[in-house]
Amino acid sequence: MTETAIDYEESPREGEITIHDAADFEGMRKAGRVAASALDMLTEHVTPGVTTGALDDLVREFVFDHGAIPATVGYRGYRHSSCISLNHVICHGIPGPKALKNGDIMNIDVTVIVDGWHGDTSRMYYAGEPKVKARRLIDATYDAMMAGIESVKPGATLRDIGHAIQTLAEGQGFSVVRDFCGHGLGRVFHAPPNIVHYAQFKDSFGGVHRASNTVLRQGMFFTIEPMINNGRPDVKLLKDGWTAVSRDKSLSAQFEHSIGVTETGFEIFTKSPKGLDQPPYA
Ligand code: MF3
Ligand code: CO
Ligand code: CO
Repeated sequence: MTETAIDYEESPREGEITIHDAADFEGMRKAGRVAASALDMLTEHVTPGVTTGALDDLVREFVFDHGAIPATVGYRGYRHSSCISLNHVICHGIPGPKALKNGDIMNIDVTVIVDGWHGDTSRMYYAGEPKVKARRLIDATYDAMMAGIESVKPGATLRDIGHAIQTLAEGQGFSVVRDFCGHGLGRVFHAPPNIVHYAQFKDSFGGVHRASNTVLRQGMFFTIEPMINNGRPDVKLLKDGWTAVSRDKSLSAQFEHSIGVTETGFEIFTKSPKGLDQPPYA
């Protein structure tokens, strides 16, 4: 996901939402399947002692072995095949020499390119045994993503998606991160529209922010990828320019699917072929 103030230099026509045809859906199915399979592959490797860099190496090998390219390598100077966001890291955590400890929770986000199509997906994992509160946060985040997805159909609006997610997350006492959003995708990685994960919120200056009432149409492709905090929603960016953490150091969770709007609803391109869409995976 990218900043809410997204610039669309990559997209074909500025501000325009591409409508895709049946052949394009087939392209997204293939890309989505490779990305989801990479996340499936990781499940047995996430254990205390393994480094996030080693997990990223596994992703890179898997992606190339499956005729795909990691979309994140070289993206705005990023050098890795995944983002691994531990504990209070909200998103864009950089893989490295840090070893996982018992009870760590993390989001692993993989984007691949297959025949020019982008499959972008992430899930939560834990090393060893997570705390009860962490499991509750993870379950609520998955449910929030799915509630957002289930609101998708032609004629619904982007605000309906945000409303479903915000209602579920806040109803369980968690908060929705506002500074990052989902995005259109397809032949480009980040395209219009922005998919914000709230319907409405008031900022600390009293300004009211509302999700757009853009109407969904058959053939739109986008991600839904809510980041949910067990604390305040505010974000701090670390000096590496990528790692986004919760300001209050509260735990943060995220799931992401790439989906398409169909005639009657939605199709999820990044469902787990092995049924490992949410933990526990054992
Ligand atoms: N996969 C992320 C998303 O959901 C984007 C990661 S860009 C990177 O949009 F450069 F940080 F890898
Ligand atoms: Co994304
Ligand atoms: Co992603």
